Amino acid sequence: MSVIYNKDCAQFQLNSRSFTYLMQVKDGYLLHLYWGEKIDNRDHSYMFWEQGRAAFSPRQENCGGFILDDIPLEYPCWGRGDMRTPALEIINPDGTNIIDLHYESYEIIDTKPSLEGLPAVYAEQGDKVQTLIITLRDKISDISVMLYYTLFEETDILTRHAVIKNDSKQSVFINRAMSAAVDFDHKNFDIISNFGTHVRERNIERAPLKYGKYTMSSRRGASSHVHNPFLIMASPTADEVSGEVYGFVLVYSGSFTAEVAGNQFSSARTVIGLNSEEFGWKLNPGESFITPEAVLTYSPAGLERLSDNYHKIFRTRLCRGKYRDIRRPVLLNSWEACYFGFDEERLKKIGTCCADIGIELLVIDDGWFGVRDTDNCSLGDWVVDKRKLPNGIEGIYNHLKPLGIDLGIWFEPEMVSPNSDLYRAHPDWCIHIPNRPRSEGRYQLILNLSKPEVCDYLYASLAEILKTGAIAYVKWDFNRNMTEVGNELLPPDRQREVTHRYYLGLYSLMERLVTDFPDILFESCSGGGGRFDAGMLYYMPQVWTSDNSDAIERLRIQYGTSLVYPMSAMSAHVSASPNHQTDHTTPFDTRFTVALTGSFGYELDPTSLSEDEKAAVLRTAGIYKEYGDRIVNGTYHRLRNPHEENCAAWCIVSEDKGTCIAGYVLTHVRLYENNERIRMRGLKKDAVYVEKFSGREYSGYQLCGYGIPAPLTLEYRSLLWIFEEKK
Ligand code: GLA
Repeated sequence: MSVIYNKDCAQFQLNSRSFTYLMQVKDGYLLHLYWGEKIDNRDHSYMFWEQGRAAFSPRQENCGGFILDDIPLEYPCWGRGDMRTPALEIINPDGTNIIDLHYESYEIIDTKPSLEGLPAVYAEQGDKVQTLIITLRDKISDISVMLYYTLFEETDILTRHAVIKNDSKQSVFINRAMSAAVDFDHKNFDIISNFGTHVRERNIERAPLKYGKYTMSSRRGASSHVHNPFLIMASPTADEVSGEVYGFVLVYSGSFTAEVAGNQFSSARTVIGLNSEEFGWKLNPGESFITPEAVLTYSPAGLERLSDNYHKIFRTRLCRGKYRDIRRPVLLNSWEACYFGFDEERLKKIGTCCADIGIELLVIDDGWFGVRDTDNCSLGDWVVDKRKLPNGIEGIYNHLKPLGIDLGIWFEPEMVSPNSDLYRAHPDWCIHIPNRPRSEGRYQLILNLSKPEVCDYLYASLAEILKTGAIAYVKWDFNRNMTEVGNELLPPDRQREVTHRYYLGLYSLMERLVTDFPDILFESCSGGGGRFDAGMLYYMPQVWTSDNSDAIERLRIQYGTSLVYPMSAMSAHVSASPNHQTDHTTPFDTRFTVALTGSFGYELDPTSLSEDEKAAVLRTAGIYKEYGDRIVNGTYHRLRNPHEENCAAWCIVSEDKGTCIAGYVLTHVRLYENNERIRMRGLKKDAVYVEKFSGREYSGYQLCGYGIPAPLTLEYRSLLWIFEEKK
């Protein structure tokens, strides 16, 4: 049993492979006792102790004498004396802002419940999984909260969410409802997070936690390029392979907040959930509200183990569908090959060329619908542009099929161009506030998916094309963030619900599509990585990592993304050189080595390649086909950090440890410096490995101990090694 209720001391003990998470009921309150290295099952009451004071915060004389501001609470509320960041704030029918939750009951089940309407981690038959559900209640307002904790024992994952229920006879408003809160009794942590912007996503920031709040958030109506919905707390000396590290990830694609505060007595409180700067929810009598899911993990052995825990759970218990555990088709995307400038003849030429160079799927990106010759029109009109494709999608499909190439297509379903038939017919279907200007981003507005009829329209217009059977892959884009948020069909007191309702609408639309078209591979995109989050991964197992397709830039982006997200989720393409975003000229093999770590493809015009380059595409596509399954299911090790050094190195080790694919790239010229060698991790030490390209043999001890020389001096040059165990 991994989830235990110890009745004698009223303690809940959750034991995974590496950690213990402890709670205790004391004088009616649910206290947080401990989260950290695994400990044995016994009475842990001594872990609760009080300072006995907290600057001017009152003592609850009538409920055990706690000073709420001084003690670790499991799901802290606002209004009765805990002055720290709350997990829950409720506006009562009388307008007051108070809720005081007391323990009521618990239940332990051997399954992982799903979250109605929301993406979430799931369990499969045979998983060692248990769920603890603790019910808390404010008896005065009759609001209850059910806290869900599902422990995936073997992968060190704890998922959490809360269900808030109004059992009273009057409506209340939820002002803030976090998915998880954890109180730590010290603040001796570094906080690690992602920051960035379009084409420069997911850089890494690491800074010591100070007194006061550290907030990562998005209020953009998307998880965003700027921050990402996760937060890592690391002991100050923790590195890739040592030290205690805690992770919090939100399974959500809209506005979010992740906060840690250093408090008086040098304690820390972490919360993660919906962004309460814009969120609110009216809860009528009898209704419940479900928060998104937070996925927590703990590693006693540094960042690598934390990332591996997330990679495993997201890859195998969040992503779904037939492509979950297998390599993805080698694709060629038309965007950087043609932009809007294609027609049937050009696509057919590209398709014919693809067949000769090992490509398995051709994606027609933006520009195939409406009259879209540039980005200022036609979004919403998902009807083939017969000027460009006189024989429709089928014309291309029929050309590719005998060549053995599948067809993919780009949509930006959530958007509408003011210059579109859809907008002319339904000007009120976009997100807007009546009598206010509608701000355009990239000449487009966002369809209001909080309106069910809009979701129904989108389902019908996409299904119309998908049901032809011609499409094997969909790239689902989202190229602006939200402004003037409102829904005139909702009453004033429900306007703060709109962005969350939008995501409930989007999630139900995507659920219908992935259910009805299970053979289609869906890839999420938002100007590259503007919605690279666990919410989207539930529906689409891969994401276009960034609109920056430069291999050298991608090193940093992929490294930052790998903190939490699996490599198989990162769509990575070999693009043309010089690169279209940076003008960098980079050798083909470097571009290949960098793209090989993700879900692989090409982003270039194959008809303009030299014979040598075509041969290189054929050769490299073959390598991905051969090793792709092992890459998808492999363990990723970050060996050198391109955010801190003038190089990057990594290795991916297959599940059986029989194959290791390692890459090294120099990002800046390095003349006459010291000898470089790259030490592998995760291999079988006593096995012998043969390196594929050189034929040389090395023991696992040698590769992990001494490593392998990396004698490069010129920038953007790279080395790729494939070590296979000698049988
Ligand atoms: C976004 C995507 C690109 C491309 C363009 C098309 O920017 O990230 O890959 O699809 O839209 O307009």
